[in-house]
Amino acid sequence: MTASRIVALGHYQPPKVLTNDDLAKLVDTDDEWIRSRVGIRARHIAEDETLVDLATEAAQKALAHSGRTAEEIDLVVVATCTAIERSPNTAAAVAARLGVRAPAAYDINTVCSGFSYALATADHAIRAGAATRALVIGAERMSDTIDWTDRTTCVIFADGAGAAVVEAVPDEQAGIGPVVWGSEPEKGDAVTITGWDPVISQQGQSVFRWATTQIAPLARQACLRSGLDPSELRGFVAHQANLRIIDAIAGKLGLSEDAVVARDVIESGNTSAASIPLALSKLVERGELHTGDPVLLFGFGGGLAYAGQVVRCP
Ligand code: UT7
Repeated sequence: MTASRIVALGHYQPPKVLTNDDLAKLVDTDDEWIRSRVGIRARHIAEDETLVDLATEAAQKALAHSGRTAEEIDLVVVATCTAIERSPNTAAAVAARLGVRAPAAYDINTVCSGFSYALATADHAIRAGAATRALVIGAERMSDTIDWTDRTTCVIFADGAGAAVVEAVPDEQAGIGPVVWGSEPEKGDAVTITGWDPVISQQGQSVFRWATTQIAPLARQACLRSGLDPSELRGFVAHQANLRIIDAIAGKLGLSEDAVVARDVIESGNTSAASIPLALSKLVERGELHTGDPVLLFGFGGGLAYAGQVVRCP
């Protein structure tokens, strides 16, 4: 039997940093409100870089770390909710830039849970024998959807990308656990990005309540489906929506004291589908997580959709 595992990660953030004080010059807000309610201190905002630029940069780094070449990739999946071009899709545009030959290439839009959906579909494709080596990317230019006069959203969302190289391995070396995924479509209007010049809007309090009450039991299920109790995890990388949400879920899971909890939201803001691979890649790069460590990824948000799985670190 064939399974899959992440063999390398990479990430990219555009150089321009917007601080809370910078935003206080645009809207009626302040550093204290943003840090205490959301936990964000700064975020990266793309200027000239397109969504494809962000995704390609992250993918190039993941490929370089893997020691593989673009020719060895046969599947490219991009999770994003901010693609402007409908055709070619983002995955095809990234594949063309990288020189990937004849890949299956598709985008997934499940908003903030997109990376875990993309990772699951790549794992399923490899298990089914439809692919052998995949690039799985989460990339967003959320700044394209921001109304810079709306203080309820412009202080939260940001740009960036993270990528993983995923390879076929024998079943006993499996590194991507079973996904727990689903949605509450009747709550779809809690996060919207609509219109010809799409603008993001969210019912912050109801999403906050949903995330802090509904997600922990689902995240626990993802652990159990991998045969682990949450106390056995070495790391937890939730969608980086809000520090209070991350800490509330982590608290309910009963992680061990030395488990590493990703809090990249502090420096990166909410980058939707990019937030999980971005945070995971940084923790591995900084040596806070090590090869083989079991880490729970869990995405949630627009849809309202959620998805998560336990992965072994590359
Ligand atoms: O990634 C997609 C999924 N999304 C999420 O997971 C988001 C979940 N929700 C949240 O993270 C939080 O609800 C927010 C960070 C969005 C908002 O925090 P909150 O503690 O729920 O604030 P609130 O919406 O209840 O607003 C409290 C007050 C309001 O003023 P009044 O009505 O009490 O006078 C807002 O108008 O804070 C005001 N406010 C602000 N004040 C200063 C809203 N935004 C700001 C701001 N600066 N930027």
